[in-house]
Amino acid sequence: MLNFDFTEEQLMLRQAARDFAERELLPDVLERDEKGILATRQIKLLGELGFFGLMVDPKYLGVGMDTIAYILAIEEISKIDASVAVLMSVHNSLVNNPIEQFGTEEQKEKYLPKMATGENLGAFLLSEPEAGSDATMQRTQATDQGDYYLVNGVKNWISNANCADIYMLIAHTNPEKKNKGINAFIVEKNTPGITLGPHENKMGMRSSDTHSVMFSDVKVPKQNRLGEDGAGFKIAMKILNSGRIGIASQALGIAMGAFERAVQYARERKAFGKEIGHHQAIAFKISDMAVKIETAQLLLLKAGWMKDQHKPYTVEAAMAKQYCADIAMEVTTQAVQIHGGYGYVKEYHVERLMREAKLTQIYEGTSEIQKIIISRSFLND
Ligand code: CAA
Repeated sequence: MLNFDFTEEQLMLRQAARDFAERELLPDVLERDEKGILATRQIKLLGELGFFGLMVDPKYLGVGMDTIAYILAIEEISKIDASVAVLMSVHNSLVNNPIEQFGTEEQKEKYLPKMATGENLGAFLLSEPEAGSDATMQRTQATDQGDYYLVNGVKNWISNANCADIYMLIAHTNPEKKNKGINAFIVEKNTPGITLGPHENKMGMRSSDTHSVMFSDVKVPKQNRLGEDGAGFKIAMKILNSGRIGIASQALGIAMGAFERAVQYARERKAFGKEIGHHQAIAFKISDMAVKIETAQLLLLKAGWMKDQHKPYTVEAAMAKQYCADIAMEVTTQAVQIHGGYGYVKEYHVERLMREAKLTQIYEGTSEIQKIIISRSFLND
């Protein structure tokens, strides 16, 4: 049975996300990008509408929707404001998801309801100044002190670092054991000993709240460890499989947003006596962009479908993340080209979308890391 139709519920969520993005995010997205300011008012509204508990079980006050609906919602938000979309993706995929999947009942009851309603926001802390792609090389140390862990170290490039209330922290408890000596912890951001570096002044996603986070003798209660002792690396990798579906959706939404603007411009702008879309040079670009977007969407929906069917989806998520991010860069670059000089100024949005696309090839596993994951699945036993 192969069915390409979306359900009524999925379509309703997509429409709600589209309306929200156009009504609430579009009017001041350029200003937020320019000044690097968080969409605080809109984030609160998104929480009230259920966007921060999209896949969480209603028993913990979530909306209980599937991954396909989640993909469609993130695409729509990303068409207009990818900085808000990354907040949604990190919060839902990298914090809600592991608490629900690996947490004890006590942890779920304590943390999920506030996360699902957006009262609390989440951040995921894995990367370090000297450990990005090579995630086992992290140095942050959580030392077992009996009834608590004492955490020391530095995490960087942390999305939502300041606006989040709950951190999903990945740290070494036993470095000699390499990846088997890593654990995942739920850490409340207001715990004494946690300080933040300055807001990163980024090329794109400028209104996403990115900082480094310093831990100095931070006490994390024993009951806040997620899963069995030493299971943290595998938990992080599994979380990232789901996170990569979120970022692939974000990348594809950026590409779709740029494509819509390029098509509109190509239909309106005239040169040499006709609309530029009727010149083959532009028409073929539009065609190439459309085929790439359609291919990316199929890969992404397949990864989401496999996740929803509880089938292994590591490779499909890596393929979707790599391909969606790479075509986002290509499509946004062509959208700027189609706009000519207008593409190079802020008002037409495509230069911003191009800057945003670049980050999707870097975070939650670079395109090169995705190729390692994909190729290993064919080459290793
Ligand atoms: N899913 C499930 N399990 C996985 C896995 C995956 N995707 N990747 C690895 N594992 C498991 C392996 O099966 C293995 O298990 P065993 O020990 O039982 O055999 C174990 O984890 C170790 O795996 P590897 O030996 O393959 O580990 P490695 O050191 O070679 O690294 C890697 C693998 C794929 C390169 C990994 O390090 C990686 O994904 N790096 C990228 C890190 C990353 O994505 N960082 C993103 C930061 S978060 C972020 O950007 C969020 C944000 O704010 C936007």
